[in-house]
Amino acid sequence: MGTAAGQRGRRQVMTSVGERVISDVPGTRNALVLRIYGFMISQLIHTAVELGIPDRLRDRPTASADLAAEAGTAPQPTHRLLRALAAVGVLDEPEQDRFVLSSFGEPLAENTEHSLSAITKLFCSPEVLRSWSELTHSIRTGESAFEHIHGMGLFPYLGGVPELAETFHTAMSENARFELPSIAAGYDFGQFRTIVDVGGGNGTLLSAILTRHPGTRGVLLDTAVGAAEATALLAANGLAERCDVVAGDFLESVPSGGDAYLIKSVLHNWDDDRVVRVLRNCRQAMGTTGTLLLIEPVVPAVTGPDTRIETVLSDLNMLVMTAGGKERTERQFRELLAAAGFILVSVTAPLPGTDLRVLQAKPV
Ligand SMILES: C[S@@+](CC[C@H](N)C(=O)[O-])C[C@H]1O[C@@H](n2cnc3c(N)ncnc32)[C@H](O)[C@@H]1O
Repeated sequence: MGTAAGQRGRRQVMTSVGERVISDVPGTRNALVLRIYGFMISQLIHTAVELGIPDRLRDRPTASADLAAEAGTAPQPTHRLLRALAAVGVLDEPEQDRFVLSSFGEPLAENTEHSLSAITKLFCSPEVLRSWSELTHSIRTGESAFEHIHGMGLFPYLGGVPELAETFHTAMSENARFELPSIAAGYDFGQFRTIVDVGGGNGTLLSAILTRHPGTRGVLLDTAVGAAEATALLAANGLAERCDVVAGDFLESVPSGGDAYLIKSVLHNWDDDRVVRVLRNCRQAMGTTGTLLLIEPVVPAVTGPDTRIETVLSDLNMLVMTAGGKERTERQFRELLAAAGFILVSVTAPLPGTDLRVLQAKPV
């Protein structure tokens, strides 16, 4: 109701982030307003990351003018930015005009275990923001807003913009590093002799698997950019001898010789026809034996409490950023696998802390 007493009552019902009180009570008008303002919050976090503020304020309460001098920014706007970052919980302000990174904001620092720094840079990049601003176009037409704007797909585009490509691969490995303990614990990769990681990115996941299972060898397939980064990372991890890196196109072919083919966070980038092509290439490479492991989110058939917001946002991100990519239901995976000569054998529960499941399939 709109009475002043009612408004006061509602304002008193607040939730807290750490020690901070925010007016984001589910179901209230203000909660909806904050969602409308969501882009402002992501942009101020992005600006903080671009200016290196989380790293500068780590364990070091600093006055806004001193931070501005260090970062080469204007003092008063810097104070206003820091205040807003404190209001959303990313910073603390233990005394007037002394700002320090909060534990909630810790992952925004670059050199921290589960950094979200590259993910911030990627998702707030002009390319992603501009594409999302054309979501209505994608909903009306079914076309990728990214392709509508750039006249080419995301991956060919990344080939010509090395800085964004590096941010992309670092962001993927930030995700992979966070997901790794769950993935490694959620499935026994040690049972295989050779694991082929199809679209393995910069090799973060395969490095972790090979390190954990010394009897296992790896083959990583990715684009020229991804393969170059993977070669460097695998060598830095002392795994060069145990892993071949192949620069190629999984739509054309996949290296043979693996007894397991792993595809993580890849199929959602592609339309059904191309997913079947990638799966058929795996089927051809592995012959009649072998195991196919898909590590992807699975969208529930009906939206309910087990539907994760990040999964359905990722689904729309695929609509906007890729030509025909999507998150899929178990039934959709089953049908695509069948079309490529596989049978879906099992699906795990979501790996703890993630929306990812392991879908295991066998050749038929
Ligand atoms: C979303 S990333 C996932 C990377 C990695 N599997 C992970 O989970 O961190 C998709 C990967 O597919 C690679 N890729 C895209 N098109 C490809 C193609 N035609 N052939 C091989 N790799 C490709 C990209 O370079 C990228 O590394």
